[in-house]
Amino acid sequence: MKTRVSRYHPLLVTLHWLLALLITGALVVGFFGLAATPNIDPQKIGVLRLHMAGGMLILGLMVIRFVVRMLTARPARATSGHPSLDRIVPLFHYGFYVLIVATVATGFATGILAGLPAIVFAGSGAPLPPSFTIYPTRVAHGYLAVVLVGFIALHVVAAFYHQFSKKDRLLGRMWFGRRAISPSAGQ
Ligand code: HEM
Repeated sequence: MKTRVSRYHPLLVTLHWLLALLITGALVVGFFGLAATPNIDPQKIGVLRLHMAGGMLILGLMVIRFVVRMLTARPARATSGHPSLDRIVPLFHYGFYVLIVATVATGFATGILAGLPAIVFAGSGAPLPPSFTIYPTRVAHGYLAVVLVGFIALHVVAAFYHQFSKKDRLLGRMWFGRRAISPSAGQ
C-alpha cells in the first residue's frame, strides 16, 4: 500500500528551493552578466566560469531531484477546480524538466563548440571567440532561456493562485514539517 503524505520529502523540498535559486541565478547572470558583456572584456571569462559551473550543478541536481521524486511518496495531486487545466498540469511539469535539460544541453554544446573548457576552466590563455551567436546552439540557448522565464512565471502565478485565491495551502506541501497522514484523516 502506498504511504499517504501531506508534503513532499524533505530532500525534494531542499532540492526544489535550491534549484529555484540556482536557475534564477543562471538566468540573471546569463541575461544581465553574459549577454551584456562583450567577449573582449577580460571579466567575461570569470562570469562564464560561474555560469557554466552553475549550469552543470543545475543538471546534476535535476537528475537527483528526478530520482528522489520517483522514489519517495508524494501528496495527492492538487486540483485547480478546472478538469481540463488539471490534465495539462502534469505535462507542464514534465515540460519544465525537458526545458531545463535542453537549456543546459545547448549551453554545454556551445561551450564545447567554442572550446570554452580549456579557456574558462584550464586557463589556456586563448582569447574567447568574437561572439558566441555564430553557434546555432547559442541562439537556441537564448530562446530556451526566454521560454524558461515564461514557464517560471506561470509556475509562480499558479502557486499563488492556489495559495491565495483557492486558499488550499499548496505552498506548505513544498516545505518542511510533519508528512504522515493519520489513517483516520480524510475518511
Ligand atoms: C538551466 C541552466 C542555464 C540557464 C538558465 C542559462 C541561461 C542563460 C542565459 C539567460 C543566457 C543569455 C541568453 C541571451 O541573452 O540570449 C546564457 C548564455 C550562455 N550560457 Fe547559459 N544557461 C544555463 C546553463 C548553461 C550551461 C550548462 C552552459 C555551459 C556549460 C552555459 C553556457 C552559456 C554560454 C556560453 C552563453 C553565451 C554567453 C554570451 O553569448 O555572451 N549555460 N545562458
